[in-house]
Amino acid sequence: MNMRAPNFDRLTKIYRWMEYFSFGCALERCRFFFLDRCAEARHALVLGDGDGRYTQQLAQRNAGVQIDAMDASPRMLQALRERVALLGPQATERLHTTVCDLRTYDPQPLGYDLVASHFFLDCLTEVEIEALANRLRAALAPRALWIVSEFSIPQRGWMRQPARAIIAALYFAFHWMTRLPVHRLPNYVPILQRADFTLVEKKSFLSGLITAEVWRYANR
Ligand SMILES: C[S@@+](CC[C@H](N)C(=O)[O-])C[C@H]1O[C@@H](n2cnc3c(N)ncnc32)[C@H](O)[C@@H]1O
Repeated sequence: MNMRAPNFDRLTKIYRWMEYFSFGCALERCRFFFLDRCAEARHALVLGDGDGRYTQQLAQRNAGVQIDAMDASPRMLQALRERVALLGPQATERLHTTVCDLRTYDPQPLGYDLVASHFFLDCLTEVEIEALANRLRAALAPRALWIVSEFSIPQRGWMRQPARAIIAALYFAFHWMTRLPVHRLPNYVPILQRADFTLVEKKSFLSGLITAEVWRYANR
C-alpha cells in the first residue's frame, strides 16, 4: 500500500467548480439521486465526501440522522462542516467529522444503517476496498444501505471508448494534483457482493459514464 493518502486539501475551494466545468450538474444529480432512500436512516457513515455537498443534503432532508463524516483532507472536512453549519446548530450537533485514512481506519461498531461513498471508491485499489468493506461489516446494522456513486466504463454503446479516455484523463489529472496513487477504476461489484452486500437499485447518467447504486447489507 502507498503509505500516503492523496492530498485533496488544495482542491477544496475549486473542486466543485472543476466538477461543474467538466460534467455540468451530472455528478450532483448522481450523488443526490437516492437521497430519498436515506430518509429513514438514523446513523450514517459518509466516506470521503470532500466538501460536503452530499452530507449537507442528507442533514437537511433527514432531521433525525446522526452523521459521521470521514475524509483524509482536513480542509475538505472544514468545508463540509461549514456547509452543514449553514443549516443551523441543530444540524451541526448531529455531525461528527474525523480526519483519517480510510484505507486503514476501523469504524466504531455503532450500528450504522447508512453508508455513503460518492466518487470515493475510485481512490482505492480493489485490495483496499475489500479490506474496507470487511472492516465496515462489524460497524453496520443488519440491512444497512450503502449508497455508491462511481464512474464506470459501460459494457457497450457509444460511450464506451470516450469513457475510457475521460477516466484515463481524470486519473492523470488527479495523480498530478493530489498524488492519488490509483490509476484505474476498481471493480468493486464482486467485492461488495463477497462482503454480503446486494445491489438493489441502480441508475446510470451520461450514457453510463457515472452510476448511482443502492446496496443492501444482509449478514448471512
Ligand atoms: C474525488 S473526491 C470525491 C469527493 C466527494 N465525495 C464527491 O462526491 O465529489 C475524493 C475524496 O475522498 C478523499 N479521500 C481519498 N482517498 C482517501 C483515503 N485514503 N482516506 C480518506 N479519504 C480519502 C479525498 O480527500 C476527497 O475528499
